[in-house]
Amino acid sequence: MPNPIFILNGPNLNRLGVREPEIYGAETLDDIRAACADRAMAFGFNIEFRQTNHEGQLVDWVQEAADAAAALVINPAAYGHTSVALHDALKLVDAPIVEVHLSNPAARESFRRRNYVTRVADGTVSGFGATSYVLGVEAACRFAMKRSD
Ligand code: DQA
Repeated sequence: MPNPIFILNGPNLNRLGVREPEIYGAETLDDIRAACADRAMAFGFNIEFRQTNHEGQLVDWVQEAADAAAALVINPAAYGHTSVALHDALKLVDAPIVEVHLSNPAARESFRRRNYVTRVADGTVSGFGATSYVLGVEAACRFAMKRSD
């Protein structure tokens, strides 16, 4: 088996399903985990799927991904808009980085327009609900396979 695709989730995403479903959809994070596992498996990858509400924990996991991931899919949630520490950690990752968002932050409040992750991601998928993750995982797998050619 190749290295896994790391899928890291930031704050409040553990509340998906009950958190503002009109914005973030009805799926829970467990539903999203299952959809990501299926998509990755179709390309021959396992996933390492995690969520935390803590910025330092996310930084630690990004560092772990730098050593052990075939690719990194990250929904930084609110830390994308605030965290230089997360930005700096992502710069340590050589593997492909795909940023995902359930909603389309660019079409929301102005404070969501600044994003410290977008600058270091290879690409971003936003606005498609849980499908953003599935598309993001597919992009991550394709990029990871290209890298190992
Ligand atoms: C989010 C968008 C962010 O602006 C917000 O802070 C989140 C979720 C999304 O997936 O749409 O928590 O990352």
